[in-house]
Amino acid sequence: MNILLIGFMGCGKTSLGKKLAKKMDAKFIDLDKVLEKEEQMSVPKIFELKGEPYFREIESQWLSKFKGKDTIISLGGGTPCYHENMELINTIGSSVYLKMDASLLTDRLYNSIQKRPLIEEFKRDKVALSTKIESMLAEREPFYAKANITFEASNVSSSKLDCLVELIAY
Ligand code: S3P
Repeated sequence: MNILLIGFMGCGKTSLGKKLAKKMDAKFIDLDKVLEKEEQMSVPKIFELKGEPYFREIESQWLSKFKGKDTIISLGGGTPCYHENMELINTIGSSVYLKMDASLLTDRLYNSIQKRPLIEEFKRDKVALSTKIESMLAEREPFYAKANITFEASNVSSSKLDCLVELIAY
């Protein structure tokens, strides 16, 4: 069964996904990385040259290709919020929402903003970034809330991760 990790940009889907894969002895895939390889360019470049609607289209197409696999998959922050993706996510595996509050997300994203086209314009204004994250998070929460499991993703220790593994297996 697939495990699909969802949550806002910067909540740690990729790093937690890798740790989880190690603990569960499973394969790990990062959807953004798959798209970058397919398109032969970075996510910001796809946004710039082909536009967000194109990105959302290929994101959704690739998601459906994971049906029937046994993989831990970290999705993009926006993946569950477009097309019918959240329904698809819950059909192809068990979904885990990595929940983190807006202020911690702001701190984390302020240091890695370059890689993220949707918030790049706020790279010199942390207050504006924080406002943007709060409003995007409010829009996206209803989608994230449809996950099978919600996991508080700040300060994830090894034992906290063991709890998540148990929750998934249950
Ligand atoms: C996006 C999140 C990004 C990436 C793209 C769009 C979003 O992934 O898919 O920049 O809409 O939140 P991360 O959540 O891994 O940063």
